[in-house]
Amino acid sequence: MKTRFARRLAIACFFAAASFLRAADLPLIQPGAVWPDDRGQHVQAHGGGILKFGDTFYWFGEDRGQNLDRGSCHVSCYASTNLADWKFCADVLNMVAPTNFGRRLVLERPKVFYNAPTKKFVMYFHMDDGRYKVASVGVAVSDSVAGDYQFLKYFRPLDHESRDIGQFVDDDGTAYLIFEDRPFGFRIAKLSDDYLTVEKEICLIPQHMEGGALVHLNGLYYVIGSALTGWNPNPNKYATAKSLAGPWSEFKDIAPPETNTYGAQSTLMLKVVGTKTTTVIFMGDLWKPRTQWDSRYLWMPLQIGDGKLWLPEPKPWTLDLQTGESKF
Ligand code: DGJ
Repeated sequence: MKTRFARRLAIACFFAAASFLRAADLPLIQPGAVWPDDRGQHVQAHGGGILKFGDTFYWFGEDRGQNLDRGSCHVSCYASTNLADWKFCADVLNMVAPTNFGRRLVLERPKVFYNAPTKKFVMYFHMDDGRYKVASVGVAVSDSVAGDYQFLKYFRPLDHESRDIGQFVDDDGTAYLIFEDRPFGFRIAKLSDDYLTVEKEICLIPQHMEGGALVHLNGLYYVIGSALTGWNPNPNKYATAKSLAGPWSEFKDIAPPETNTYGAQSTLMLKVVGTKTTTVIFMGDLWKPRTQWDSRYLWMPLQIGDGKLWLPEPKPWTLDLQTGESKF
């Protein structure tokens, strides 16, 4: 009897110690700080999106590095297995304006989807001219996650204007594009089976918002967006719905409005499902319009559930990818 108790106690101590050691080992995610990559350079993945492929997270974003050729636009790709330490893979797309497009190319908010049937990685981005009048999406494809991506085409999704875009893959694997249609609001649309085009509108949310991001949690959809204030921060808001098609609730603040979302603008919500719990990470950009290369990132675990969503005050935090637990 005594031996059995001692064995159980030893096992319990072992697991407690293992979880304590793992917690102590977890790297800090520090909102607003310089995030050095494996080369010691600040991560350049602004307006970005994340694709989890295998056990690795790939972060794609705008490379606004100071030493880059200003005549072209660059999409970077970084890889991580813990969401805190990022290895620079490459600039996976370097683009100049296509012929007859206009002098200046604007490429913003790249997002990559993996299409299992075709085994292609499909990148969407906001593609525009310097006056933001083209208002289209660009599509580029690759056979491997870290590129190179080949530019394929640009178009207005379902003939609508499209500026900021967001990506969303539902629990059933269906892929959606969220895009801002300036005259009307923002739209959620399903991609075609091969992801190469935008096939069907699911919903128009008649709210003038950009930086659209979506997550599906416990049977409820939560959408986040920011107001249209250029590079300046504003109070980001959220709404909920039982179905992507709506009806959507009224929009509410995600943080104390006087903080202007602590200076951030939404780009993605990442759901991390662990053995104990699920963490939804708010991923936002802290833009520095005059020194874009120094723009920072505000990633924080959201307080989310039962139709409520709240961004806690930013502070350093850790994430246990195994259990899904976050601590700050
Ligand atoms: C806000 C958008 O969210 C950004 O992606 C960028 O397009 C700026 N506006 C440009 O002013």
